[in-house]
Amino acid sequence: MTFREDGHAAVDWAADYLDRISGLPVLAQVAPGDLTAKLPACAPERAEPFANVLDDLDELIVPALTNWQHPRFFAYFAVTASEPGILAELLAATMQQVALNWRASPASTELELRVVDWVRQLLGLPDGWHGHIEDTASTGTMAALIAARHVTGRNVVVCSEHAHSSVEKAARMLGMELRKQPADGELRMRVPDDLDDVAVVVPTVGTTSFASVDPVRAIAERAHAAGAWVHVDAAYAGSSWILEEERWSQDGVELADSLVVNPHKWLLVPVDCSLLWTSRPDEFREAFSLIPEYLRTPEDAYALSEYGPALGRRFRSLKLWAVLRCYGAEGLRALHREHIRLARVFADWVEADPEWELAAPLRFSLVCFRRDGSDEENEAILERANRSGEIFLSHTRLDGRFVLRLAIGNARTTEADVRRAWEVLNR
Ligand SMILES: Cc1ncc(COP(=O)(O)O)c(C=O)c1O
Repeated sequence: MTFREDGHAAVDWAADYLDRISGLPVLAQVAPGDLTAKLPACAPERAEPFANVLDDLDELIVPALTNWQHPRFFAYFAVTASEPGILAELLAATMQQVALNWRASPASTELELRVVDWVRQLLGLPDGWHGHIEDTASTGTMAALIAARHVTGRNVVVCSEHAHSSVEKAARMLGMELRKQPADGELRMRVPDDLDDVAVVVPTVGTTSFASVDPVRAIAERAHAAGAWVHVDAAYAGSSWILEEERWSQDGVELADSLVVNPHKWLLVPVDCSLLWTSRPDEFREAFSLIPEYLRTPEDAYALSEYGPALGRRFRSLKLWAVLRCYGAEGLRALHREHIRLARVFADWVEADPEWELAAPLRFSLVCFRRDGSDEENEAILERANRSGEIFLSHTRLDGRFVLRLAIGNARTTEADVRRAWEVLNR
């Protein structure tokens, strides 16, 4: 077999997988260790044809997949790897660009700067911000904390009790002290008072559990008055700013020192692709720039590796470029409008049924709800629904109470899928 033939077979496999995805169970129907037991303990001594790998996808891998591409995947924040993004991943791997600096990959460096700036414009973010791509929001937030510590010379991080665990993890990895602020009745961070020793405050637009929106403007004004950095985590909800009508949640974001938004969550880009902007690029770069002799080049080289932890950088901008071109801003806006509409439809069913209630205000495409009953009953409903393989939802807790979350973010999800989720939960 040649690369070309294997490649055609691989693309056929990918197309078939996507065609049959809605017939597969959403949640993997395997027990821990099932796959391990089927995998040889050692690597093969003799070379095998690539076709064997493809065969084993069906035999071994697919049964152990939780199918994130499934239209009835409603857990966590549902995502989509769109076809242009998938093909661009293949091409990026083919070109194997390791963008250490401009010379190592002019294409990756310049395309990244340009397409991240396209997204900045589409989301209505300020002119002049510097943006680049990190693998995940976890890395982006860690980078922002490093920059904040460098600039302020302080060591304290403040975020809401509902902030994503990546903020706490970054603080822990960096040996920074974390202070969690309580939230108000609408699950928004209370504006902190005393920030004089604080390096960075991290408000969230679209919290992981409830998609609540912290008061970024008030927080940023208070933080800046105290000399602290402001890093906004809009990993999920930031993409919705592509819609003018969702920009209410952007209020104050223009004051941020840094901002993270994940196209691998709600902009159809295959994981991983997380955008990190800063309004203070020079200071940000100062925190990270370290150029060893072997990377010095005659040209006035621009290196995106000077803006974050990684030296060798993947050609991630290719998939973002492909998605932006193949959907157009119009296509992405239509998708967001539809997802937000579907969440409203589901929330209306919940509100109209006396046996169910909304547990948090509806925001973006996330519905938080519970059945009138005990935590155990709610937990049992969720577990049975997920085990059925028909739908997959996740949960959170609010004031100790078990809450179900239905997150809409898959491009294949239709109203029929959302209705099916409602039927399964009621059944
Ligand atoms: C608000 C928020 N921030 C950060 C993250 C972490 O994202 P990543 O997996 O890209 O590190 C998540 C993940 O769901 C999130 O919801």
